[in-house]
Amino acid sequence: MPVRRLAGWHVIVTSGPTHEPIDPVRYIANRSSGAQGTAIAAALRDLGARVSFVTGPADIPPPEGVEIIAVETARQMREAVEALLPADAAVMAAAVADWHVSNASDSKIKKDGSGKFPKLQFAENPDILAWISQLQAGRPGLVVGFAAETDNVLENASAKRLRKGCDWIVANDVTPATGIMGGSENAVTLISDEGAESWPRLSKTEVARRLADRIADALTGMEGL
Ligand code: C5P
Repeated sequence: MPVRRLAGWHVIVTSGPTHEPIDPVRYIANRSSGAQGTAIAAALRDLGARVSFVTGPADIPPPEGVEIIAVETARQMREAVEALLPADAAVMAAAVADWHVSNASDSKIKKDGSGKFPKLQFAENPDILAWISQLQAGRPGLVVGFAAETDNVLENASAKRLRKGCDWIVANDVTPATGIMGGSENAVTLISDEGAESWPRLSKTEVARRLADRIADALTGMEGL
């Protein structure tokens, strides 16, 4: 049994994809199994944290022993996160769609055989990570984002950390050849003010355990400040 170092601490974890409706039967989504976010929530729970798990429609069941808030869209995810504040830490592992369809139809769009295709219009989704990182009041003491990149992974992830204003970014290379997306392993680099630390390729469970440990170090270290 791990030591319950996070007993009494509240952590919000977002996970899974968001689904952005086109009509009642179609949607736009990002590829995300929810595996890494689920493992992180479970690892934080194992350290005794009160975990609020805000999940889009994922491929795998949510962990037991956490508070589960199931959402579909990015806008719902942002509202759910806001309703859960205050929190000591937030880990944004969800693959949030950048846009939603602003002219989504309430009824199923029909193929009418005319050769004309529906014209979808897009509007920007809220950036939940940037929003929570830049909160003036009630910002969690530690905000962790993810950067799934295919090119210039470290450079892009470091720039993302500064742009969004989060404390840490967990960067990973999701080039299809890595097999990371949808697979059971992950190779990540943890980027903070202190620099970049690359971890070996590990199971997503082990990445989650290490990250939860680092979060516990940071939160319990902050307590005495
Ligand atoms: O900008 P990009 O999507 O690459 O950033 C990834 C990070 O930002 C992840 O931590 C993801 O959960 C978060 N994010 C978010 N809301 C968005 C887009 C991304 O919280 N609309």
